[in-house]
Order: sequence, then structure tokens, then C-alpha cells
Amino acid sequence: MLDPYKIRKDFPILNRKIHGKPLVYFDNTATTHKPRQVVEAIREFYYNHYANIHRGLHTLSQEASQLYEEAHEVIAKFINAYSWEEVVFTNNTTDALNIVAYSWGLKNLEEGDEVLLTVMDHHSNMLPWRNAAKLRGAKIKYVDITRNGYLDYEDLENKITEKTRVVAFPVMSNVLGTINDVKRIVKIAHEAGAIVVADGAQSVPHLPTNVREMGVDFLAFSGHKMLAPTGTGALWGRKDLLEEMMPFKVGGDTIKDVTLDSVVWHDLPWRFEAGTPNIAGGIGFAEAAKYLMRIGMENVRRHEEELVRYTIKRFKELEGEAEIYGPLEPEHRGGVIAFNIKDLHHHVVGKTLDLYGIAVRTGMHCAHPLHYRLGLRGTVRASYYIYNTIEEIDYFIQSLKEIIKNKALLKQMEAEFAGELEVCRGT
Ligand SMILES: Cc1ncc(COP(=O)(O)O)c(C=O)c1O
Repeated sequence: MLDPYKIRKDFPILNRKIHGKPLVYFDNTATTHKPRQVVEAIREFYYNHYANIHRGLHTLSQEASQLYEEAHEVIAKFINAYSWEEVVFTNNTTDALNIVAYSWGLKNLEEGDEVLLTVMDHHSNMLPWRNAAKLRGAKIKYVDITRNGYLDYEDLENKITEKTRVVAFPVMSNVLGTINDVKRIVKIAHEAGAIVVADGAQSVPHLPTNVREMGVDFLAFSGHKMLAPTGTGALWGRKDLLEEMMPFKVGGDTIKDVTLDSVVWHDLPWRFEAGTPNIAGGIGFAEAAKYLMRIGMENVRRHEEELVRYTIKRFKELEGEAEIYGPLEPEHRGGVIAFNIKDLHHHVVGKTLDLYGIAVRTGMHCAHPLHYRLGLRGTVRASYYIYNTIEEIDYFIQSLKEIIKNKALLKQMEAEFAGELEVCRGT
């Protein structure tokens, strides 16, 4: 089992006070904090090795290139890829998913083809495919969810056809927390001849990931959601698919040679990393992955499952005043608890929790279609990571009890902020 108290010592920000209260950071689905080791690796790179990569024979450029390439190897190991060449560094998950939709989609989709998404998808997995499908005359279909917040596998079987070229889905929902059955989806998709694109934004930071076992064709994820700096992420892809894809962002470092009328693309993964990349970020990304590997991803998962089990149990004390969305079986959900307090606007709950020092996310979490499907205008979302503790959840539940007790007073606040509350930034 991991020790969150020991881990917390590596995260100086967790000593902060917010409104005079110790910070309880429950917004890890949006992004996580960074341990000293990651910040230190970036500092060391800038202080002692910084230069542009793949562009100079001088010592610093060679050192920077080597460190950046080694960073790819570390991320490849983290997800058990066959080779680091299958790992393209990106800005984030969104960037990675756009690369697949445009580089694979525009080349392979044809008029009348179908792309199967899910209603629980984040906009970052939905919108690139919708654009690519529109450009190629393909059709988008959506797999529904069940009443309990699971993916509806029967609906998937019913909607997939011989025209389906792509099945794209989140390995774990950023709202419902549902952990989808990857192997089952892969089997159904591959039998129909479709490729499988997995959005791993919420799974790779929280669950052990083994692309060889998953059987998917592409996996996208973000570094900043797993202790790495912002502006980092990765696309893993099957090598044969990456090799035949046409890079859609092109320019410096994507080529081996260019004449006025021809181009020879660079080897993998460089042909997909156009321009000067986030070199320092990539090095920080690798350091974050090493940090997680030292803890062990099985332990990360076990810790979060315990936190979720405990939260679900303690929510029962709120006696019908609060509703959690998504599966109630901790073994099938990640450390994400989206909920509402009866008759209280989600933003009011979020704002009030901030006064207690508790950082949660409120709104539709870049999953508007899912919220509309659930008949909701928004939710409050608490999400956990390796540094969160049972004591923090106790304090969270206590705070919610006080909020419920003071509901009438808070309703007035709701009226005051009426206009503002309607504004959902959607992310
Ligand atoms: C399931 C899912 N997919 C994609 C994304 C997009 O990630 P990023 O903003 O890092 O591109 C997120 C972010 O919250 C997410 O939760």
C-alpha cells in the first residue's frame, strides 16, 4: 500500500492554506500537482543541459537530444510499449487525439463510413472525430450508457456495423468514473474490422497500463494529469498504423529531406512532433513516470479504490441530500466522484467548498453531451490522487454536512449569482 503522508512531503503546495484552511486538493482529474523530483529534473535540465534538440552537433544539443529521447523510452516503459518509436510526445490528450483523427482519419475515412463514439466521451475525443467525419462524409454514432453509468455493451453490439471504421472511447470516464471493459470493446471492434482509439487521459495516471495487453490501436494521455508539467502528453500507436499515417502538423523535425516538390518524412516518432517540442516538459514527464513507477501503479489504483469505497460509504450519511453519479461499485470506478446536493446549484457548492479550503471542479467537465444525457446542468466533482487521505475525505463529508445544514442561506447566494451561475466554461 502506498503511504500518502510520506508522498505529501514531496509536494510543497499541499502545505498551502486556502481561506485560512489547509488545502484539500480534490481536482486531480483536471490536473495534478508536481513533486519536487519533477521540478528538480526540469531545473537541472535548464541549468546544465538546455539547448534545442536534433539541430546541433554541439555538446549541449547532443545532451538535450539524448535526454529527450530517453524520456520517450521511459514513457514507453510506463505503458509497456514494444518500442519508444511508438510514443509520440504531444501537448496533452487533446493534441494526441487530434493527431489520430486528422492523420489517420483524413487518410482512411471514406464517404458512408461510420465512427462509433460514446455518450460518455470528453469533448476532446468527440470533436476531432466529428470534424474528421464531416470532412470525409463519414457518419458519427454514439454508444449509450446504462442506468447505472456503465457503457451499454449491448448498444455497442447493436450499433457497430461493417461500415464502422473507428471505435473511440474513454478508458475511464472523467465524470462517472466508470472504468470501461477495454478488452470487450476491442474484441467487438476488431471483429467488425474497426480500429480502436482509447482516450487514456483518466486511466493512464490512475491504473496500471499495458498497451500490449489492452489490444487497442491508439492510446492518448496527458502528462500534466500524472504529476508532469503542463504542455505534456503522449500518443501511443501501433507502429504499422503510425507508419502509414500522413502527419497533419508538419514542419521542422518532421522530415528527413525536402526538395521543392518532394518530402521524405522522418522516422517515428519525430514525424509527428513538429517544430521545437516541449523539451523540458518531456524530461519532466519522464521523471513523473519514474516517480509513479517507484510507487507502483497497482498501489496507486488500490489507494484510490479505497478512497472511493470510503467516500461512497460516507456519502450515505448525507441521507438522500446528495446524489453520486456513475457506478457505485468501487472496483469498477476510478477516484472520481461527481455529485450534486439536492436543490443547490453545483457552482454554489463548489464555491462554498473552496471557503473550506477544498478544491473541487464544478460544471460539465468538458462532457456536455453526457450531462444532457443525464438530464443535468452540471455536477460537483471531487477527484483523488496519490497524496489524498481518508482524513481529507472525513473533512470533506463534514463540510458537506454543514453546507446541507445551511442550505437556506446558500440558496440566497444562488439567487445573487444567478447570471454568473449560468455561465459554464465547459471545461
Ligand atoms: C477523459 C478525458 N479525455 C480528454 C481530456 C483532455 O485532456 P487535456 O486537457 O490534457 O488535453 C480530459 C481532461 O480532463 C479527460 O478527462
